[in-house]
Amino acid sequence: SSRPRVFSGIQPTADSFHFGNYLGALQHWIRLQDDHDAFYCVVDMHAITVDYDPAALRERTYRSVAQLLALGLDPQRASVFVQSHVPEHAELAWVLNCITGLGEAQRMTQFKDKAARGGLNQASVGLLTYPMLMASDILLYQTQGVPVGEDQRQHLELTRDLAQRFNGRFGETFTVPEPIIIADTAKIVDLQDPTIKMSKSASSPKGIVDVLDDPKSAAKKIRSAVTDSEAEVRFDREEKPGVSNLLTIYSALTGRKVDEIAGQYAGQGYGAFKVDLSEIVADFVGPLRAATMELLDDRAELDRILGEGAARAREVSQATLDAAYDRVGF
Ligand code: ADP
Ligand code: NA
Repeated sequence: SSRPRVFSGIQPTADSFHFGNYLGALQHWIRLQDDHDAFYCVVDMHAITVDYDPAALRERTYRSVAQLLALGLDPQRASVFVQSHVPEHAELAWVLNCITGLGEAQRMTQFKDKAARGGLNQASVGLLTYPMLMASDILLYQTQGVPVGEDQRQHLELTRDLAQRFNGRFGETFTVPEPIIIADTAKIVDLQDPTIKMSKSASSPKGIVDVLDDPKSAAKKIRSAVTDSEAEVRFDREEKPGVSNLLTIYSALTGRKVDEIAGQYAGQGYGAFKVDLSEIVADFVGPLRAATMELLDDRAELDRILGEGAARAREVSQATLDAAYDRVGF
């Protein structure tokens, strides 16, 4: 294929993706599948680096895949698969571990943050080697572009360093991937506390809209979102983070420009704006939830789709791993 290769992964760590995941990542995956050769992976191996429940992980992996398909990923156009189904990910990660400095890995801010939370003695070695598994995910596919948010920028930098280091030491093997930086404007904030980002770990139930929320409760969360006392629909991320967040969601779900939407509600306060958006959100999550549940009712079909995705992934990943193994002397 002459289309540029892109790779991205998402962890199956919740029962539902939320609007931050969708607007900050998944909608871009879907956009890119049209004119890119896309490999999209549910990274279950990354999800076991912290405490977890095996039965919940298995269910969340299926739910993640079903949501991706319901949101619009087309397994005919994009290769959609589960990380643990493609053993090359773990195999190349070992090689990359062996060319990464211990200090280099310990300097990753995400490791420092997560390890700091539970204390270093509680952290798994998997948490430390997570970025090398992520590098393996990306490099196995000779990836040219990786859609990433700000939070993964440092890990992608490490991936580029490792690709260059390996190529320099053992001979040209890996494509050095470029970030496809997703604009910070796609950052969705908490509906009840617009000073923090919407996140499964930090948000309260009322502050987070899940793509699998039932339409009524999603609409209610939008109507009761925290805004400000100015009562003017206007985009200003600094001064009006709550309203700007709602405008971002409105714009993303309708394809209309933020300024145009703000213009429509000029001089009207927040009432009509919130009611209209609550209906737009309800109309978005309703069919999504139904489509996801329908997909989840047919596990055999999901297994078939994932089997095809893994087979397509292995065609590429085996060739890359063979070359890498040969270069390192295996
Ligand atoms: P969470 O922060 O809820 O734990 P993850 O860290 O699993 O979510 O993020 C998965 C993807 O969704 C990443 O690409 C991340 O950049 C994106 N993402 C997560 N939260 C937001 C948000 N509030 N706004 C925009 N993108 C987000
Ligand atoms: Na996060």
